[in-house]
Amino acid sequence: YVIGIDLGTSSVKALLVNQAGRVVAEATRPYPLLQPRPGFSEQDPEQWVQQTISVLQELTTHSQVDPEEIEGLSFSGQMHGLVLLDQHFQVLRPAILWNDTRTTEECQEIRNKLGPRLLDITKNDALEGFTLPKLLWVKKHEPHLFEQARFFLLPKDYLRFRLTGEVHMELSDAAGTLLLDVIGQEWSQDVCAAFGLDRSFCPPLVQSHQCVGTLLPEIAGQTGLKTTTKVFAGGADNACGAVGAGILTPGVTLCSIGTSGVILSYEDQDRDFGGKIHFFNHAKPDAYYTMGVTLAAGYSLSWFRKTFAHQESFDTLLRGVEQVPPGSRGLVFTPYLVGERTPHADAVIRASFIGIDGSHTRQDFVRAVLEGVTFSLQESIQLFRQAGKRVHTVVSIGGGAKSDVWLQMQADVFDATVVKLNHDQGPAFGAAMLAAVGCGWFSSLDECSQQFVQYEAQFTPIPENVHKYEELFKIYQQVYAQTRALNQ
Ligand code: XUL
Repeated sequence: YVIGIDLGTSSVKALLVNQAGRVVAEATRPYPLLQPRPGFSEQDPEQWVQQTISVLQELTTHSQVDPEEIEGLSFSGQMHGLVLLDQHFQVLRPAILWNDTRTTEECQEIRNKLGPRLLDITKNDALEGFTLPKLLWVKKHEPHLFEQARFFLLPKDYLRFRLTGEVHMELSDAAGTLLLDVIGQEWSQDVCAAFGLDRSFCPPLVQSHQCVGTLLPEIAGQTGLKTTTKVFAGGADNACGAVGAGILTPGVTLCSIGTSGVILSYEDQDRDFGGKIHFFNHAKPDAYYTMGVTLAAGYSLSWFRKTFAHQESFDTLLRGVEQVPPGSRGLVFTPYLVGERTPHADAVIRASFIGIDGSHTRQDFVRAVLEGVTFSLQESIQLFRQAGKRVHTVVSIGGGAKSDVWLQMQADVFDATVVKLNHDQGPAFGAAMLAAVGCGWFSSLDECSQQFVQYEAQFTPIPENVHKYEELFKIYQQVYAQTRALNQ
């Protein structure tokens, strides 16, 4: 057996997977998001560790599996979050997360200082969510803490350090820091020097399937696992989502809807998208992926549920939405609750409902939220197509793949065939696959994917809806420019 752990934004999830690729047990534990000020988004790393210990304990106690038979474990994790540590490996402040938007000034500073070198080296534009701007923010606003800082980690790399005692940073996640030479696959001396960061600030790099150690005795004791359980580095959640969905060769596009939403496609070599979409290292060796991000995807629906629906279940919330016609009877939602990443890279813009009629029901609003999120993802698909990529089949994973109405909507809005997977486990499953390959069950991720990943249901575009959504998408796209002034 192997274990895949996904350290998400709202919870940690662990899967126990057998050699046939079947999930035999799973456990999830939540932790809160701290929002001390508008635009701030933080978490306490200690909670990640404690809740992970709890999920592992639950897996070992509730499954009938002998812990001796659990050969290895690996990780998937929310990207970009800054965990700052002192010389004694103590965390200096709460982690600043990917969806925190306080760093607009630092992003500008990075662009100004590096100029075209920014894209040449890091392959990405400087965006609020990435790690370097967060480091610079702490340096400027909390100099007393920064002085004590000796190195930084990303969320799942910190978690792995706590389970093994070994400090490393894994490549697919390091790609989202803006400190990595993405094509050279090493820390950029240039970028570090430009911002006065000592190279020792950046931990040693490892590849996703690499074994970085075994479990510390106290962790083995607390979780019921063995000190011989091998620990593999793991990957960024989007890379692991792609692995778990079999996105390991060019061709098929991924749509992943979790708290954030992502459109992603595999790249086997360096490509220039001018920073309009992200370009990161994959969890497969020497491979890359392109990606566009909607910051508030599943989060838009959770926000709606929390605000207007007394936290009822998502199933109840979505009931009746299939009866609302495409276009939500004239109601349009833009999902900019925490700003927007792709295509606007705008931390300040905020969301809207437009076209409200006195007769609209809650179902109309819920459908409009689903449509708004899907339109935002379509903006990324449009950028892919404009860059010459063909998008004919989309594998949908995450919350967006749990509802047939939403899957059909994706097919209609993207004008592409949408397929669902045989498992709905998301990035945690990709993490388990990394452990399976690390343990030597397979010679490569591709071979593992052939056995573990199958596509199931298909949703094909309905021409009438495609046409309707094409028209609406044009209106949706205008809302951004028309509402910008509200928040400047
Ligand atoms: C990717 C991003 C998010 C997080 C979510 O750039 O910021 O998708 O990885 O966990």
